Amino acid sequence: MSHKTILRALAGETLPEPPIWMMRQAGRYLPEYRATREKAGDFLSLCYTPDLAAEVSLQPIRRYGFDAAILFADILLVPQALGADLWFETGEGPRLSVISGPGDLRRLKGRDDIHDRLAPVYETVRILARELPSAVTLIGFAGAPWTVASYMIAGRGTPDQGPAHALKAADRATFAALIDLLTGATIDYLSAQVEAGAEVVKLFDSWAGSLKGRDFDDFALAPAKAIIAALKARHPGLPVIAFPREAGPRYAGFARATGADCIALDSAVSPAWAAENVQTDGCVQGNLDPRHLVEGGPGLEAGVRAICDAFAGGPHIFNLGHGITPDADPANVERMIRAVRG
Ligand code: CP3
Repeated sequence: MSHKTILRALAGETLPEPPIWMMRQAGRYLPEYRATREKAGDFLSLCYTPDLAAEVSLQPIRRYGFDAAILFADILLVPQALGADLWFETGEGPRLSVISGPGDLRRLKGRDDIHDRLAPVYETVRILARELPSAVTLIGFAGAPWTVASYMIAGRGTPDQGPAHALKAADRATFAALIDLLTGATIDYLSAQVEAGAEVVKLFDSWAGSLKGRDFDDFALAPAKAIIAALKARHPGLPVIAFPREAGPRYAGFARATGADCIALDSAVSPAWAAENVQTDGCVQGNLDPRHLVEGGPGLEAGVRAICDAFAGGPHIFNLGHGITPDADPANVERMIRAVRG
């Protein structure tokens, strides 16, 4: 039996109290993150400088003693490795060169050509594997094909993924070819992270909720299933966390259909519903609303308690329903951890 509580929960064990980490735990709410980012110059330089990227992954472990560290990188490094232009507009978010048809797709590189560009990320993983305390689990990650494609097609973040839905409707073959390219690249990228020392991988499908019906099956479920099957064939026993954010009722059955060991839940899902409909298939992760870490107050402890109580009967990893926001108070993170750890 592992001494790492995250691995035990992922293996299906019900623990006396849930292990805990936090999406975006390395981020702008922490003064030490802002200082290291300043030193790097900009966000992408931080991602591609292994010593500094490892440093910001370690900061929340030192400050709070979380049970897992997540690699510091971004889901949009994969499109960049495939040849897309990528930059971040200050205060606005990511910008990419746009994929609007078969010609743009043909100009991208193949899945085998991504590793030179991504080598610094693998080096970050190696540093973390060496430097993390022995009880802390190292999580690697990638964006799921649909979410990454939605940024590549629009060239930016969009509230409703409109451009990606439009390409899917107008030219399903080109759209499906992009999803296939990303599926292959994601398998190789995550596999390289595991070879470098990641013990768990998480697939972020932040915009899964805008896929409905057959589209959800084809472009959220099927790629996740293919990625997980290929990873587990290469790395037997590798635990995988899937995060089909805002999937609503489609959270039920997602683990069984894809082979994921754990389902990360957003805050729109009621813990009582998820205990009955998702946790019955294995570990769940989540799902405190990140706004509690801005607001604090008695709502924070009450929110933590409701989640821990609802999931106490099965395997659970405590986390937020989405990333912590830059305006969160670091002291509220401490209060959250104290509430989880009784
Ligand atoms: O601590 C961690 O969670 C690990 C690192 C991590 C980042 N991004 C760092 C980051 C992870 C796992 C991600 C995933 C990611 N990136 C997702 C999926 C999860 C989600 O939030 O839904 C998405 C959609 C992205 C794309 C992305 N990256 C956007 C839309 C933005 C801009 C929005 C924002 O919050 O500023 C980023 C930038 C980004 N990625 C930051 C961080 C810490 C902020 C950059 C900064 O320091 O200025």
